[in-house]
Amino acid sequence: MTKVLFLESIAVYAEKYTTPESDALAALNRETNVKIDKAVMLSGHLQGAFLQMFSYALQPKTIIELGTFTGYSAICMAQGLQAGGVLHTIDYNEELADITGKYIEAAGMKDKIIQHTGLAADILPRIDAIPDLVFIDADKVNYGLYYDMLIDKLRPGGFILADNVLYEGDVMLPIEQQSKNARAMHQFNEKIAADERVEQMLLPLRDGIMVIRRK
Ligand SMILES: C[S@@+](CC[C@H](N)C(=O)[O-])C[C@H]1O[C@@H](n2cnc3c(N)ncnc32)[C@H](O)[C@@H]1O
Repeated sequence: MTKVLFLESIAVYAEKYTTPESDALAALNRETNVKIDKAVMLSGHLQGAFLQMFSYALQPKTIIELGTFTGYSAICMAQGLQAGGVLHTIDYNEELADITGKYIEAAGMKDKIIQHTGLAADILPRIDAIPDLVFIDADKVNYGLYYDMLIDKLRPGGFILADNVLYEGDVMLPIEQQSKNARAMHQFNEKIAADERVEQMLLPLRDGIMVIRRK
């Protein structure tokens, strides 16, 4: 399908009236786009600003992120941490760790962000903390697994945000026409909608963010 769901012209206008990226985030965005494969995975200005606002409002003590990439979303969410709070971020791509570390430092977040390198399903059980906020943004086929691993750990009243739940609109295709990832995203959306432990809202920002609150 590959449709532009969130109209480019609206995104441009919305970005114009959104607080500009910090110097560190703008430089990270630029360097990622110039040097890193699949730079489109980076959250970007608008989604990053949303994550930052959400975190400011929640004032979490502990955040867990699955899928660091070059650290853009981690830096945004870490802004809202309460004093002494920590963001754990996991990525299995060790080649990204240096650029990520460089920008975490440039953003002044070195004491707040802990980088873990490895598979999310292996690292998650080793993080001994009760998260107030989780951002799931790693491999799509395992979103359901990560949700199951995290939902009982999450503080009641805490939130899970899951990215790419519209999968460019392909979640709406007949199931036999869906790619493996689009089907996984559709099944994840069904799973959340059927789970009475949570309330949720599918926010059609960018590629779709499922906002899930544990009751
Ligand atoms: C969409 S990108 C994350 C983007 C980042 N959150 C941001 O907004 O800038 C997905 C990342 O997940 C990582 N990833 C994919 N599968 C993973 C797994 N099983 N365990 C850990 N990381 C994984 C990839 O290496 C990639 O960097």
